[in-house]
Amino acid sequence: MNTLNGNLHTQILFYSRTGKTRAVAEAVCEIFGGSLCEIIDAKYRKGITGYVRSLFDVWLMRPTEISPACINTHDSRLLFIGTPLWADRLPPAMRTFFSTAELNNKRVILFFTCGFYRKHSLMYKYTTHVNTMGATVIGNFFLRTRGKSKTALKNETKMVLNQYKTTWLESIINWSK
Ligand SMILES: Cc1cc2nc3c(=O)[nH]c(=O)nc-3n(C[C@H](O)[C@H](O)[C@H](O)COP(=O)(O)O)c2cc1C
Repeated sequence: MNTLNGNLHTQILFYSRTGKTRAVAEAVCEIFGGSLCEIIDAKYRKGITGYVRSLFDVWLMRPTEISPACINTHDSRLLFIGTPLWADRLPPAMRTFFSTAELNNKRVILFFTCGFYRKHSLMYKYTTHVNTMGATVIGNFFLRTRGKSKTALKNETKMVLNQYKTTWLESIINWSK
């Protein structure tokens, strides 16, 4: 456990259908410490059928159930929240998460993965949304995943984190004073 996590109880929450966002979350955990918490969609979404079902679900904004149904964030002050981008939107599991999560008074860093197209407006939309839930978003980042191995993604994530780490730490230290 590093000093940051020792003081803040960092939690890394993520949803991942094919493991790319998971690889990014694992790299965050290696750099910042803390605990990983995977948000699981109750609907089966593997393979081509799962992909097509996912596409329809996201287009039609169909709701879904997640497990754990109630994610305990009480002991964490710093949350990393990671999600893939689906058809320029959030996957149903992440919409369920954001509609039920307890984020009041948390410091949050959002991260998104996408195949090729980084939709920054979605990141800004959810930054605003999370702020209205009583949290403060202190950072965010986007990673393109197409054609990249999980090892390559982890290495890229670590480079991004090293770029922002000092700024985020300063923001957290100022908040803790
Ligand atoms: C239903 C669906 C829709 C997607 N739509 C987009 C998209 O609009 N733009 C994009 O760049 N990538 C899109 N992707 C690709 C994923 O965002 C990308 O592969 C992501 O890194 C996958 O993360 P995961 O392995 O954690 O599930 C889509 C993937 C799925 C399953």
